[in-house]
Amino acid sequence: MEKRCATLDDLEKETTRFVESLVLGAEKATLVTLSGELGAGKTAFVKGIAKALGVTNRVTSPTFVLEKKYRLPSISGENKFKNLVHIDAYRLENGSALSTLGFDELMSNPKNLILLEWPEQVSDALPKPSVHIEIKILPDESRNILYA
Ligand SMILES: Nc1ncnc2c1ncn2[C@@H]1O[C@H](COP(=O)(O)OP(=O)(O)OP(=O)(O)O)[C@@H](O)[C@H]1O
Ligand SMILES: [Mg+2]
Repeated sequence: MEKRCATLDDLEKETTRFVESLVLGAEKATLVTLSGELGAGKTAFVKGIAKALGVTNRVTSPTFVLEKKYRLPSISGENKFKNLVHIDAYRLENGSALSTLGFDELMSNPKNLILLEWPEQVSDALPKPSVHIEIKILPDESRNILYA
């Protein structure tokens, strides 16, 4: 599926729709990978998701800290994510660096929603994601979002 977002408002609506479409796994975390050139809008997409899930902390890019974890407010209903994990793999040299981030343990909790930017950097160790997203900047600066 493909969506075009011309503004950050459009993007916010799209991330809200996307997050509502996610179904928790029974045994493992839900992994969503985000690809796209520098400045494509990967972090902006994660911010939209965080907002849709009720995160009130300011969500900033984990470029330097590599990983950030946000506890999600509890909403009625069992089948909801408890934690949002935002990983930026841009500075990682290969997949073995994931273990230092405790990635396997994060993956073992079905209540975790893990959003990972730059999956190409760690492709040798990354499990198959639930959803892979590719963001492209169009000539008019709007963004094309491709879900695979
Ligand atoms: N759909 C959109 N429409 C208009 N502007 C957007 C859209 N998505 C993102 N932007 C803008 O693009 C800029 C860069 O976005 P962002 O930091 O999310 O990119 P990124 O893909 O995470 O980059 P990096 O690879 O450096 O982490 C931000 O200023 C953001 O406001
Ligand atoms: Mg980013």
